Amino acid sequence: MHPRTSDVLVVGGGIIGLVTAWRAAQRGLSAAVVDPEPGGGAAQVAAGMLAAVTELHYGEETLLGLNLESARRYPDFVAELQEAAGGVAGGMDVGYRACGTLAVALDADDRAHLRELHALQHRSGLESEWLTGRECRRLEPMLAPGVRGGLRVDGDHQVDPRRLAAALVAACERAGVVVHRAWAERLVVVRDRAGGVLLKDGTELAADQVVLAAGSLSGRFGGVPDAVLPPVRPVKGQVLRLSVPRAYAPFLSRTVRAVVRGSHVYLVPRENGELVVGATSEELGWDTTVTAGGVYELLRDAHELVPGITELPLTETRAGLRPASPDNAPLLGPTALPGLHLATGHYRNGVLLTPVTGDVMATVLTTGQLPEEARAFTPARFPSPAPSPSLSPVGVS
Ligand code: GLY
Repeated sequence: MHPRTSDVLVVGGGIIGLVTAWRAAQRGLSAAVVDPEPGGGAAQVAAGMLAAVTELHYGEETLLGLNLESARRYPDFVAELQEAAGGVAGGMDVGYRACGTLAVALDADDRAHLRELHALQHRSGLESEWLTGRECRRLEPMLAPGVRGGLRVDGDHQVDPRRLAAALVAACERAGVVVHRAWAERLVVVRDRAGGVLLKDGTELAADQVVLAAGSLSGRFGGVPDAVLPPVRPVKGQVLRLSVPRAYAPFLSRTVRAVVRGSHVYLVPRENGELVVGATSEELGWDTTVTAGGVYELLRDAHELVPGITELPLTETRAGLRPASPDNAPLLGPTALPGLHLATGHYRNGVLLTPVTGDVMATVLTTGQLPEEARAFTPARFPSPAPSPSLSPVGVS
């Protein structure tokens, strides 16, 4: 029996794989996605901050450009996606909220850290405003009286990643993307070219182009030659969900975050009353256990910021895996193996980078070239881990 064939086969149905398939289908390519649980993955855990400015780090100026570009595209992307998925009236509101962010300091060390961030933002031409503790509490009355100052960033917004994932699944299906709810076992390489994937049940799916968008699993997908296997590793994040009873609303009106004793904590209030508190950052391999220590640290730090949080019902605890690359930036575009592309390694910015990733990958898949804004994110920037004799077929042919 001939394998089922498409122009593009995306391995991984998280938000990055889905947006890639959706955009490819819009450009007239026949597209398929393979994932046992489309719309699952890290998006089910992520808080959905679109935090290009408040999550700026030294040495990540190139990534900042891509993050800002994606943030700029977000409103139009959301409007188009919601429409394509069936409309807001049809339940496809992705919870985009232009609410801004307040990053606050609880002690002198935190304040010094925030002052540094403010200076870096200023040097990078970004908009943020320094506020006194009193001004912070005027904006967010639930903040602890001890808050020593903060940075108001009106351009860092939020989206609900679970709703985003659901809308992308619907948009894919309405655009004719074939969704295979199955495990992909390995890449198929035929005559030094990626030719499809073999599923766990033995079915072969053939494609002219394969996109590996399997999040942290991308780094160990079977059949990919070592020379092109992406250097992506899992970084665990534990996240809590609470619910704000109507009588307490509005508990917070924007995202509030801080660095407490060196750990990032953020509180993301949704319009529907959900309050997401994240996140730990743990290098523990594939472990996704929710630990007492993780929950304790998040609640302790969040309580120092917003004492009233202890009154709220705790509705969910969950851990996910961020796909991290050696320079914290994504790997986008063609690899040295013809026919194989990457869309992975988005680390802390997967939700933020979804719009620009979809556009970039659609250009790659239709022209073979990375657009200007994504050239710096080519997988070729990482040398192969070991001298590779050749890209000889290691998959099933
Ligand atoms: N961007 C938030 C996080 O990765 O925790």
